[in-house]
Amino acid sequence: MQFAQRLQNVETSAIRELFKLLGKPGIISFAGGFPDPALFDAEGIAKASQTVLADNPGPVLQYGATEGYQPLREAISRFMAGKGSSVASDGLIVTTGSQQALDLIGKTMISPGDKIIVEAPTFLATIQCFRLYGAHIIGAPIDADGVDVDKLEALIDAHKPKLVYLIPTFGNPSGATLSLERRKRVLELALRTQTLVLEDDPYGELYFDQPPPPSLLALSEGVPGSRDWLVHTGSFSKILSPGLRVGWMIAPPELLAKATMCKQFSDAHTSNLTQAICAQYLTLNRLNDTLAVVRTTYAERARVMARALQRELGDAIVFNAPQGGMFFWASLTGANGKPVNAAEFAKRAIDKLVAFVPGAPFYAHDADLSTLRLSFATADVAKIEEGIARLGQALG
Ligand SMILES: Cc1ncc(COP(=O)(O)O)c(C=O)c1O
Repeated sequence: MQFAQRLQNVETSAIRELFKLLGKPGIISFAGGFPDPALFDAEGIAKASQTVLADNPGPVLQYGATEGYQPLREAISRFMAGKGSSVASDGLIVTTGSQQALDLIGKTMISPGDKIIVEAPTFLATIQCFRLYGAHIIGAPIDADGVDVDKLEALIDAHKPKLVYLIPTFGNPSGATLSLERRKRVLELALRTQTLVLEDDPYGELYFDQPPPPSLLALSEGVPGSRDWLVHTGSFSKILSPGLRVGWMIAPPELLAKATMCKQFSDAHTSNLTQAICAQYLTLNRLNDTLAVVRTTYAERARVMARALQRELGDAIVFNAPQGGMFFWASLTGANGKPVNAAEFAKRAIDKLVAFVPGAPFYAHDADLSTLRLSFATADVAKIEEGIARLGQALG
């Protein structure tokens, strides 16, 4: 078959190969990026579904508007207001997961050869998706406080990118959170250099002890003009359920109109039924209780993982403990002749029936081969203790 040329820019991810090994009986996996299904509020979602189908089934089983189901657009507008961002319901569109929002931004903004700056490391699917549109992707270094803004500024000045893609809060895979001071600088930078910044925020609600700094979107009101250079994507996947496939995109009107046009040709609209379920769920006043359970559960798992890593791997590994989200990002140090290559260590770990993801695929270029990502979201505390002990044995 003669496939489209654009596919030559993208390879299937190395992670997929690893996932084939995860079916081994008895394996403890820290490799996935899924939320814990035991924490889904199935009862609340069932209630919302029943109401939606009993009250007025016609519109939700019918075709709908590309921009989204209006009661949900209004509910998202209120939800964002609760997080300090004022967004009118017509200032956002509903998308089929935030993944579709990222794809629509790629479709509307990226021409072959356009330069895009991302964090190094960043969300693998974004690298793949933007490459499909021919993007030349440049990584900006990060530390525990998120992207290094001095280096980002130098990269923007040098490359004049079409777009800067950031996951400022509890990043995937980095777990890092951009500090308040850096957030303000990013907005000023966007304005000064007239560069579009995409803030991807699926994890912001999953904080442990205290809420993260306000989003770039919320802070943009304090930097007049910066909102014109900001796109924000959000999602119900990590706070309610990823199977519903409901996310959203907030963008300047011109960009929102083009993205809506592209969405029309892509899936016409996001499922009206799942949009209505989300809207109805938000009226049940259950979300705060659901999130409270998710936050305390993930916080405990993260604390247990941090302690177990220190105990079992000692100076063979370094990491920053995240303040929320679902991931630890770590580096092997090679201390005392222990492994330093995370892909080789991953094979030894699989032999001991424990899995994680080596970090290399999360870099657009110049991968740090010593890095790895561990998710603490789906394994319970006992499994985390046992899995990290097995990692210690795999170290040798
Ligand atoms: C950083 C980031 N952005 C976007 C997504 C896409 O999520 P969804 O399409 O389920 O909203 C994910 C999913 O894991 C993610 O980690």
